[in-house]
Parts: sequence; structure tokens; C-alpha cells
Amino acid sequence: MGNLTRDFFIGLSNNKVLNANAKKWGFRLGAEKFVAGIDIDSVVETVKEQNGRGLSCTLDNLGEFISDRGEALVAKNEIIQMLDKIHEERLDCHVSLKLTQLGLDIDQGFCIENMTEILEKAAAYDIFINIDMEKYKHYEKSLDILKVLRKRFKNIGTVIQTYLYRAEEDLKDLKDVRIRMVKGAYKESDEVAFQSKEDIDANFIKLTKERLLGDAFTSIATHDHRIINEMKAFVKENNISKDTFEFQMLYGFRTEMHDDLRQEGYKFCTYIPFGTDWFGYFMRRLAERPQNMNLVMKDVFYT
Ligand code: FDA
Repeated sequence: MGNLTRDFFIGLSNNKVLNANAKKWGFRLGAEKFVAGIDIDSVVETVKEQNGRGLSCTLDNLGEFISDRGEALVAKNEIIQMLDKIHEERLDCHVSLKLTQLGLDIDQGFCIENMTEILEKAAAYDIFINIDMEKYKHYEKSLDILKVLRKRFKNIGTVIQTYLYRAEEDLKDLKDVRIRMVKGAYKESDEVAFQSKEDIDANFIKLTKERLLGDAFTSIATHDHRIINEMKAFVKENNISKDTFEFQMLYGFRTEMHDDLRQEGYKFCTYIPFGTDWFGYFMRRLAERPQNMNLVMKDVFYT
């Protein structure tokens, strides 16, 4: 896919009017293949089914462009209900969330308060909370908040986007934190991020290998079979225990590989998004993968 097409979908993902309208449409354009349900109750069965196959999960209650305190409080309460549900149903599942959902753009202190409430509940249930990484303009603030929260909580980690030049430096400060390694899903300038696929892939491979040699748990989040094979060979050569890392993939992507990896003895975690705010997430997936457009066409022309 050319950069223009990628930029087009990233542009759509940032369109506030479309994001707001899509909440009223229900799932359209084939989004239901990648977004597991509308609310927590509708995804519990999906998690149980994944757990039954030996796959752990992370749930993400989708939310974009939250700009007032009321919306952030609703998001916080929904995440707390999610924690109750995970606990009650004894799911093998952690939670992924975005700090902008919890008021990062409104007031950092308010965001920390919301996170503290979530983390207290999650710690009582022994559930891990992952801060997903968003656009670069939120990056520094997100790492600052992580640093504050790590002083009190151990059940928290984050994502490092290896398209960023500074990823290598930041990982040095995160040696004892559980990290999900990703390439990066947003459009960033060449002032802060590698632009070519070769450079981004090379940095992902280099930094993930360095992490795997350390002690803290690492989630290797990619659908790229070449990189997965390279990681498998690397852990074997270096006698790295399969308990110290996992592979992660997004719900609906490369499902044929999930059970295979598990059967080979690797830990595997499926990232399961749900909720009415699906548009931005779905547009970012279209930006990454042109083949997903086939689903959009089917939805537009055959329904
Ligand atoms: P990439 O798109 O680079 O494709 C590489 C190759 O893999 C392709 O050429 C193809 O051969 C193969 N391939 C990929 N997808 C395939 C498919 N569906 N079917 C067949 N072959 C396929 N980003 C972010 O900025 N912040 C975040 O918090 C997260 N969180 C996150 C969690 C999880 C679990 C995942 C998997 C990803 C994220 N991401 C993310 C997104 C991430 O940054 C990145 O944009 C996508 O994973 C795309 O990069 P890949 O390495 O998966 O494949």
C-alpha cells in the first residue's frame, strides 16, 4: 500500500465527526471481524473461548477523542466494571487502555487519579493493566504518568513503538517494566520516527532481541511471520525461557497462527477490542493492511 493510501486511512481515523457518527451506526464496513462486541457482556464468551484454547487475552474498551471530564469518568467506570467481570468470570485476561480515554488531554492530575482508582481495583484482583501508546504528542506525558504510578503499583506496563528513534533510550529506563513491543500505528514525522519499513522492522528486531535478553516480561506484538520466526530462532539459540515472553496479535488477524504458536509451547495473548467507538481503531487497521479493504467492499456492496 502506498503512503498516500495509508495517510488517507490515518486521516479518517483522526476525523472527529466520522468517529462520533460511527458510534451511532453500530458496526459497519466489516468492523465486526476485528471488534469483538459492543459491551463487556458480549465479549466474555469470546474470552472464554480463547482461554479454552490456552490463549490469554487483553481487553480494550475502545475510546477516542475524549475531551471532557464526564466522558473520562464514564470510561473509568466502564474499565472498573470490566475488572469486576474479569474477576467474577475468572478470565485469563488483562486490560489495555489509553490514557487519553482517562483524561490525559484534560488534566494530568485527573488522569492519574482515574488510573489510581483502576490500579487499586486491578491490584486487588491481581490483574495487569497495560497503557497502550498513542500519537507522539502523548508519548512523553504517558511515560511520565507511568513513572508516577510505578512508584505505587507493580501491575502496570506499557507499549514501546520501535518506529521512534528514542525507543532504544526509553527502553533502558524500562528494564524492570513489562513492555509490549510494537512497530507503531500512527503517522509520525521524520523528526521523531523512522519512515521506511526496512528501518522500522530492523529497529523492532534489534530492540526486541535486547529486551528478550533482559529479565522483565516482553510481549512481542506483530503479525509478521518473518519476525516471529526470527524471534523463535533467537530465543532457542540463547536458551531464553518461554515463560519470559509472549506473542500478541490483534483479534481477527492471522488466527491460523495463534493455535500453532500455542501448540509449539509459546505463550500467546489475543488483543480484543470492543465497544461502540470502533471507527478510529478500524481505520488504523485499514491503513496497515490493504487486504482488509475487501471486507469494506463486501459490506458496502453486498449489504
Ligand atoms: P506489518 O503491517 O509490518 O506487516 C509485515 C508483514 O507481515 C506483511 O508484509 C505480511 O507479510 C505479514 N502480515 C501482517 N499482517 C498480516 C495479516 N493480517 N495476514 C497475513 N499476513 C500479514 N501500535 C501502537 O502504536 N500502539 C499500540 O499500543 C499498539 N498495540 C498493539 C497491540 C497488538 C497486540 C498488536 C499486534 C499491534 C499493536 N499496535 C500498536 C500496532 C502496531 O504498531 C503495528 O501497526 C501493527 O501491528 C502492524 O505491524 P505488524 O508488525 O503486525 O505487521
